[in-house]
Amino acid sequence: MNNTQTDSDAFLHGFWYVAAVAGDVKRGKTIHRTLLGKPVLIGRDATDAVFALSDTCPHRGTLLSRGMFDGETVECPYHGWRFATNGQCTTIPSQKEGQRPQADDIRARPYPVRESNGIIWVFIGDKTDAENLPTVPAVLDIGNRFQLHLRRTFHCNIDLAITGLMDPAHGAFVHASSVWRGHRDVRDKEKVFSPTPLGWRMDRHVASGNARAYRLFLGGAPETEISYALPGIRIEHATTGKATYCGLTACTPVAADTTAVHHIMYWNIPGGAALRGLVRLIARRFLNQDADAVKDMRDGQAFNPDTMLVEDADTQIRWYFRLKKEWQQAQRDGRPFHNPIEPVTLRWRS
Ligand code: FES
Ligand SMILES: [Fe+2]
Repeated sequence: MNNTQTDSDAFLHGFWYVAAVAGDVKRGKTIHRTLLGKPVLIGRDATDAVFALSDTCPHRGTLLSRGMFDGETVECPYHGWRFATNGQCTTIPSQKEGQRPQADDIRARPYPVRESNGIIWVFIGDKTDAENLPTVPAVLDIGNRFQLHLRRTFHCNIDLAITGLMDPAHGAFVHASSVWRGHRDVRDKEKVFSPTPLGWRMDRHVASGNARAYRLFLGGAPETEISYALPGIRIEHATTGKATYCGLTACTPVAADTTAVHHIMYWNIPGGAALRGLVRLIARRFLNQDADAVKDMRDGQAFNPDTMLVEDADTQIRWYFRLKKEWQQAQRDGRPFHNPIEPVTLRWRS
C-alpha cells in the first residue's frame, strides 16, 4: 500500500503546544524556546504569572531573552528598550521628545500562554482556541503536579517523531527487555477505536498480557485508555481502581528536522514517590530507544522516502496523516475541522 504522507515539514498552526514545564521558568526569569521555527520568550513575573512574547526585539532583532527581566519589564540588552509582559514597549532610551517612534507605537508580539497540570502551553496560530487546551483526565487525587517529566530532542521532523512513538508494532523489537517483555514476543491484539474531536481513542480495555511493566508498577492489570489528538498529544490513562497512572506525551516541532518530545507522568500509587527514580530510569530508556529507532528510520528514508503503511498495524499512522491534511485543508477553506475517522475495531499482532 502506498503511503500518502502530507508535506513532512509543514507545521500545524492553531494549537496549544507544550513549551516547557513549570519548573523551567523561575519567578523573575525568562527562557528562550524555539517553537515551530518561531523564537518565543517565556517568563514568569513577580506575581508568578507566566507570559510569552516573540523573542526578537522589534528594533534590531536581538533576542530579548538574553536581556534583563526585573519581574515587570523585559529590557533588550542592545539599546535598552523595555517591554511590559503583554509586549507593550514602555521605554526607548534613545528617543527625544517628538521623534518617531515613541514607546507607545511599539509592541512585541505576545503569545497566548497557559500553565496547567504543571505544563506551560503556548498557542501558535492566529485565533486562540482556548477550548483545545489539552488537559490530563481529571482523576480525583492524581494531583495537579506531575511526578516526572522527561524531555528528549528527536533529530527528525514532527511526523516521524509522532508516528514513530504511536506505532503499535515496534515494542517487541525496540523495547524488548528481560524484565517486562520478551524479544519478538508478539500476541494477537484486537482494540476498539472511536473518534474524538481532534483525534481518536483506543477505548478502555484491560491491559494486555505482555504489558508486564504495568502490572509491576500498578500492582495489578489495569484498565487503560489511550487517546491521540492533533497536533501530537498522546494521553494514556490507566487505573486499577486504587492506583492511577496518567502519561502525557507531546511532540512539539522546533525546526523542520528537530522535534522536542515531552513525556509527563502523573500517578497516585501508594509509595509511588519512592518509585520515581526507577520509573525515570525505565522511561528514559524507552524514550532513548524510540529516539534511536526513529533516527534509523530517518536515515533510511533519506534514501527511500517511498514507504508503505500496512493493515491494521499502521492504520493509526494513516489516520494521523489524514487528520493533519484535513486540518490544513479546513484552515485554508476557513471552515470547521471535520474528523474523518469512523469507529472501528483494529486487529494486529504486537
Ligand atoms: S535591538 Fe533591541 S533595543 Fe535595539
Ligand atoms: Fe516506542
